[in-house]
Amino acid sequence: MPDLSADPHRPIYHFLPPDNWMNDPNGPIFYQGRYHLMYQYAPDVADGWGAKHWGHAVSDDLVHWEHLPIALSPDQTAGDQDGCYTGSAVLDDDGTPTILYTGVHPQVQCIARSRDGMQTWDKRACNPVIAEPPAGIAPKNFRDPCLWREDDGWYMVIGSGVEGVGGRALLYRSPDLMDWEYLHPLCEGVATETGDMWECPDFFALGDRHVLLISALGEQIYFIGHYNDATHRFEPESEGRIGGGVCYYAAKSFADGDGRRILWGWLRERRDREAQIAAGWSGAMSLPQALTMLPGARLGIEPASEVEALRGKALVDDAGSDLSGIRGDALEIELEVAMGVDAAVELGVRCTPDGREETTVRYDGAAQIIELDMTRSSVGKGVELAVHSRPLTLARGEALRLQVFVDRSVIEVYANGRECLVGRVYPTRSDAVDLRMRTSGDVAVNCLRVWEMPSIW
Ligand code: FRU
Repeated sequence: MPDLSADPHRPIYHFLPPDNWMNDPNGPIFYQGRYHLMYQYAPDVADGWGAKHWGHAVSDDLVHWEHLPIALSPDQTAGDQDGCYTGSAVLDDDGTPTILYTGVHPQVQCIARSRDGMQTWDKRACNPVIAEPPAGIAPKNFRDPCLWREDDGWYMVIGSGVEGVGGRALLYRSPDLMDWEYLHPLCEGVATETGDMWECPDFFALGDRHVLLISALGEQIYFIGHYNDATHRFEPESEGRIGGGVCYYAAKSFADGDGRRILWGWLRERRDREAQIAAGWSGAMSLPQALTMLPGARLGIEPASEVEALRGKALVDDAGSDLSGIRGDALEIELEVAMGVDAAVELGVRCTPDGREETTVRYDGAAQIIELDMTRSSVGKGVELAVHSRPLTLARGEALRLQVFVDRSVIEVYANGRECLVGRVYPTRSDAVDLRMRTSGDVAVNCLRVWEMPSIW
């Protein structure tokens, strides 16, 4: 195993497993005053092809983590001999932590319970609890249960789809989390718009609406709308994407002790398989993201306030400062600028002094687009060089407010509490640590702050 801490691309303040492969967040839950985060884990390989387990970690503050023993491993008796795929954790009606997850192969739904405060999980109870999909659904398109409680029982949606037709979130009901009755699709998609397989559905009330998250076509998609709890159907009225591209996927939320809705997403690698195997690790978790419902059925998304506890030394604390001489590959940058119509601002991170490598966050006021331009992020081979973007319309008089998190190969950008861009970059040069700002048109910097971000481990 290579020395992972010496890898200049390995994030230091984002959660990730001790080594090898991770993908989706699984079953996040606030339990007895602590935050539990589980995740798809291949403990023996770094390229994603190993049988999936559930890795497990716990935190007191949402940002510093202690790794715990693996929660779920495939075995011959539970219907999950080829893998324990994504799922959810809830407290059952007796307060017992309970996981519903997909066992492979074929894809069936399984249950596991913990009677020792989430240290170990017992899956002896008559698995699988759902042995096959409803008529018309292929067994390979039946996974990733998401659970909630209503007055008349437990409800669950399962990710699915009809080939060539569209994605489906299939709705089930149960009195006890064991006996499940299929009802109907909670929501149906159109293949040409959102693909024909919806992975990792996540469904929850937020403010005066409901949100359905689905992962499809490599992207994190969400629908906002009304859920009718008499007909048990969800009617989307607006739609959006988180991350602006393919680096953010399989997001999963939970309700914390204060009634907040916190979201985790998987930050995918964009370097080739050989590089991931050589590195000995792959994948990281996003920062915890707090979701809110904004007027007009729009999703609010920001780093949870706990992320401020990660800040180390302040390197810049004054709007009048310039960024020359400010360096780092693990930073938070906060920037607020008042912008005239048609003005533009660019913030370069991970820049070499000669400009050969640079990752650029850009807001173009004329086009009303925020983008994360990674096309010049690396001169290395075998890495993807993409531009991720989202529309962002500023109201009259509204300043542009950016929070940019640089964590070696991870870049997370939050804009005005309502857009989020995520990218992965692999600069080759050790001097790719400069920051740079350029503006055009009528731009006034109201606030510029930069912090060093120390390691959480
Ligand atoms: C999404 C996904 C899920 C599945 C899991 C397997 O990334 O494909 O649909 O449960 O990963 O690791």
